[in-house]
Amino acid sequence: MQCAKGIGVIGAMDVEIDLLRQVMREQGSCEEVQAGPYTFYRGTMEGTPIVVVQCQIGMVNAAACTQRLIDEFGVAAVVNTGVAGSLNADINIGDVVVATDAVNHYMDVGNLGYAPGQTPGLSTLSFPCDETLRQAALSAAAELQVTTWEGRVASSDLFVREDADKQRIVSQFGASCCEMEGAAIAQVCWLNQIPCAILRAISDKADGSAEVDYPTFEAAAAKTCANLTRLMIGSFSGFSM
Ligand code: ADE
Repeated sequence: MQCAKGIGVIGAMDVEIDLLRQVMREQGSCEEVQAGPYTFYRGTMEGTPIVVVQCQIGMVNAAACTQRLIDEFGVAAVVNTGVAGSLNADINIGDVVVATDAVNHYMDVGNLGYAPGQTPGLSTLSFPCDETLRQAALSAAAELQVTTWEGRVASSDLFVREDADKQRIVSQFGASCCEMEGAAIAQVCWLNQIPCAILRAISDKADGSAEVDYPTFEAAAAKTCANLTRLMIGSFSGFSM
């Protein structure tokens, strides 16, 4: 992996990037760069150049921020860290999902013959995550001793909290977890031909229990994922930057 300009890291919420900013500051390397509506945190993490940014919740916010990150900083790769709802009874709160790929589960132009999730004009249904980054994430997860799954991430502007929505996403896409930014970030990376990774820790079960579970487990899950991101990024410190 060539990381000449570093790795970009995007989280939607403060709680998802707090730890990363804190570590950069502790390591004496956190320059704030304002560009448009975003504050980018540029520095190094465990010796690897990175740029961290909060995109805010949702697909449009995620897409706009990813493009800005790429344009302003020319990052070599993008990592998305955050929380997600589980779509699989075996994937529990606190577990981690390392995405194989991401799909926009609300994209539906079925009336014109397109498959669920397929955006007309694009040659792919789902947006793949980079193999090298995925392997680095899996190694970091093993080191952290967190229960980790590989699978598809399904994204849209919906906070999934009803069984019917959950079942539809599972049956149409076979996704492992759902969230609200990953597919937008992966799509922008795909359009720019930049490798990306999506790492998510589970905060809820994306059903009727989410209302209670999400606020209870959000902070711990976000921290687990940020820690994983930190460790994974550190594994690229020996590569030519
Ligand atoms: N992020 C965390 N939990 C989620 C859910 N249930 N739906 C969408 N995004 C989420």
